[in-house]
Amino acid sequence: MKIAIIGTGHVGLISGVCFAELGNKVLCIDNDEEKILNLKNGKLPIFEPGLQELLDKNKPRLTFTTSIKEGIQEANIIFICVGTPPKPSGDADLSTVESVTIQIAKSMHDYKLVVEKSTVPVRTGVKIKQLMEGKVKSGLSFDVASNPEFLREGAAIYDFMHPDRIVIGVETVRAKKILTELYKPIKAPILVTDIESAELIKHASNSFLATKISFINAIAKICEQAGANIEQVARGIGLDHRIGPEFLQAGIGFGGFCFPKDLRAFRKIAEKLGCEFSLLHEVEKINESMKKLFVTKVEEALWNLSNKTIGILGLAFKPDTEDMRYAPSIDIIQMLQKEGAKIRAYDPQAMPVAKNILKDIEYCKGPYEVAEGADCLCILTEWEEFKGLDLDRIKSFLKSPVIIDGRNIFEKEKMLKLGFTYYGIGR
Ligand code: UDX
Repeated sequence: MKIAIIGTGHVGLISGVCFAELGNKVLCIDNDEEKILNLKNGKLPIFEPGLQELLDKNKPRLTFTTSIKEGIQEANIIFICVGTPPKPSGDADLSTVESVTIQIAKSMHDYKLVVEKSTVPVRTGVKIKQLMEGKVKSGLSFDVASNPEFLREGAAIYDFMHPDRIVIGVETVRAKKILTELYKPIKAPILVTDIESAELIKHASNSFLATKISFINAIAKICEQAGANIEQVARGIGLDHRIGPEFLQAGIGFGGFCFPKDLRAFRKIAEKLGCEFSLLHEVEKINESMKKLFVTKVEEALWNLSNKTIGILGLAFKPDTEDMRYAPSIDIIQMLQKEGAKIRAYDPQAMPVAKNILKDIEYCKGPYEVAEGADCLCILTEWEEFKGLDLDRIKSFLKSPVIIDGRNIFEKEKMLKLGFTYYGIGR
């Protein structure tokens, strides 16, 4: 099939490259000229494991352009993958979706299936349809569909190729046929719904997952007070197949560009529909409290933070990404700096991005350099690299052998045996 993807962010680029890998001809469109120029030269704007190889492999089937008008001519399916960032109110900003829709409507000369893949509020499909109806040349037909994406950063290619489900929200048989045909090579259940339900599935899924994380973090706090171990409790809960073991990893909370943004947006959507969703507010509150809890642990370990040197391992909101958006590390580091602490930090991927966000930090070449002369070492992202550290060596570099592990990557007993003063979360 011939596909146009508008927006070459994480979702757009990965979908584009993966659709090409499935044998389709894909045109990726973005108004950022530098990004498109780089992509034409095979240079990726994001870090995602395996993406560079897949881009290189599928070059003959991929084209990049800045022009929607040119880009959509040949395509029969157009995916809208542009950003829907939060406004200060928390509502999703849909102005780019609107302007892209107008451009599609004005540029099309034959039937197009317009698919929203960006995370959008429920009933955006209706708005896209109404907007297009007023703009397309008479006699031309089109369909609108919703096909939400559930990619995790760092595992995005695997997730695209091996999804738990493919959700297709459609109103016509023609649209259903095109999309089921497109996804045929992927072995996964296809759930065909109406457009509104497909749109809601995305926000409901992300909100449920965020709720699961805040739930286990709330239990972790109780564990700390009661002398229980959150890992044992999580395992005990997760073995009930109705609950499941995933997303029960306690820590400093969730970040990234999806959960925090989608949670707020979903709360706003529900509010506008007259359904107050206060549970999600509680989820956000617990998430914020985990960062404060972490800082309290640092204070408990070091007492006054003024002029203390704190080593930070991990800045990205999770491993295998350079993404710093809404990373818990940002708030935690800023709280520590406010108390007068000096920060030395290392992250395998996120440092170039972090340098634009976090100032007055000594960025180091590796974990051992971070530990050198530090009063304590804080783990904020669970990179594999940190799990295999030579802890005796780390200890020899630290001013005092204190580790505050915000992601529970080390075993408490082992750390105590090695002579560390060790703090984890919920144990
Ligand atoms: C998420 C959804 O998983 C994905 O389906 C959706 O399309 C986009 O949002 P992503 O933001 O890439 O993906 O990361 P994810 O792996 O889900 O982790 C999100 C955050 O939750 C991270 O900060 C992670 O550290 C945190 N997390 C996750 C926990 O704190 N505990 C867990 O048990 C799981």
